[in-house]
Amino acid sequence: AADAGLNLDDIQGDVLIGMKKNRELFYFFTIANAADFKPKLSGSILPLITSTTQLLDVSTQPETALNIAFSQTGLTALNVTDSLGDSLFSGGQFKDLANLGDPSATQWVPEFAGTGIHGVLLFASDTDDHINTAVTNLESALGDSITKVYSLQAGARPGAEAGHEHFGFLDGISNPAVTGFTANPMAGQAVVAPGTILLSETGDATTRPSWAKDGTFLAFRQLKQLVPEFNAFLTANPIVDGNLTAEQGSDLLGARMVGRWKSGAPVDLSPLVDDPALGADPTRNNNFTFTHSGFTLSSDQTHCPFSAHIRKTRPRSDLGTPEDAAHHIMRAGIPYGPEVSDSEASSGTTSTERGLAFVAYQSSLANGFHFLQQIWANNANFVHAGTGADPIIGALAGAQRVVGGLDPTNSAKTTTLTTDFVVSRGGEYFFAPSLSAIASKLSV
Ligand code: HEM
Repeated sequence: AADAGLNLDDIQGDVLIGMKKNRELFYFFTIANAADFKPKLSGSILPLITSTTQLLDVSTQPETALNIAFSQTGLTALNVTDSLGDSLFSGGQFKDLANLGDPSATQWVPEFAGTGIHGVLLFASDTDDHINTAVTNLESALGDSITKVYSLQAGARPGAEAGHEHFGFLDGISNPAVTGFTANPMAGQAVVAPGTILLSETGDATTRPSWAKDGTFLAFRQLKQLVPEFNAFLTANPIVDGNLTAEQGSDLLGARMVGRWKSGAPVDLSPLVDDPALGADPTRNNNFTFTHSGFTLSSDQTHCPFSAHIRKTRPRSDLGTPEDAAHHIMRAGIPYGPEVSDSEASSGTTSTERGLAFVAYQSSLANGFHFLQQIWANNANFVHAGTGADPIIGALAGAQRVVGGLDPTNSAKTTTLTTDFVVSRGGEYFFAPSLSAIASKLSV
């Protein structure tokens, strides 16, 4: 990464490159006493906030990295009353519940329902012990100026599953390159203006208070994944093709729901069998547009279904060339919860919650996470009539979902999903300020 103008010392580390650690704790709090908290924010928290510069170099990475972000009610509690120019942020995620397609508030973690959370601290390290030490130290420094409301312990999956989300698919492959930051975008990587992610940078046309520059909106979602149920569904519905065993047919169905094989290889480039070498090669694993010579883009689902998760959330050439530049997010999520137990696997039923601690950064929630979820993933007629909702994250407030195009041998066939394999447990919208905004505005 090269800096051609972004102040990487001032941008929190998780935003552009992710925390780069195996364990992460999301610590949600309320501000109990703003007058007491403000000097601690500048004196005890700010010196520990990890910048992008620090994370970029292994030699300057702290034992435990720390980032912080505030909800609208948190900024209000700090008596910061400037509008950040984002009504979804101002309203909070609970108010957005129906638009996001969440079936009901009863599925939400109770602490997320409402606007009671003021902020989140993100602790990231190689071990839980390091994180626990950092939490204990910070809690004793902060005293009762804040109150812990809820926390979520997350971490990379063990062994060869590291980097894979709980359904088994390699994650963290396709994030946009940022002009002025990413020196050499990978082939097929989206390239976005810095203002797509960071407030008041080139490409962000919204009027903001000057102190908000280089901050970003963090959409947090606790997304429960029904892994044994997902696997049982694949086993029960293999794609039938004379050349495939039942197991291969089940793997193919899963790969087409995601748009990538578990290895990360895109089905658009390797439609019928996994290609682990392709999945592992960053120069090739993002280099596709869904366009193929000899095939019509608007009707060809032999390579990748229109409904595939990665096609719903980044349609590439489906929306024309050059591709849409307005709707991109920087993802920095991490799995939470234990591995599937033997009894869960054999019964096909989840007994202990696991899922994805989803984190997305963007300068506009209406163009970023909210848009991808509501206007693309949940919209059965995107990218074409009859596409169906995203089979991974599509949520139609609990309604049955009819998904098209999953069977490459019969594009007219539809698949009815009676279970949502991803269930929203809610979350919140936060603003992750620059380090200088913490010093000059939030803590004074
Ligand atoms: C990509 C899984 C939730 C947006 C991916 C990939 C996987 C995946 C396996 C491919 C790897 C990669 O490109 O990095 C999941 C799971 C989710 C989830 C299991 C829920 C538990 C979401 C949500 C959104 C989202 C809520 C946004 C509303 C994206 C985007 C990409 C992606 C934008 C990259 C597409 C591309 O550039 O090709 N996801 N995801 N995901 N996901 Fe998700």
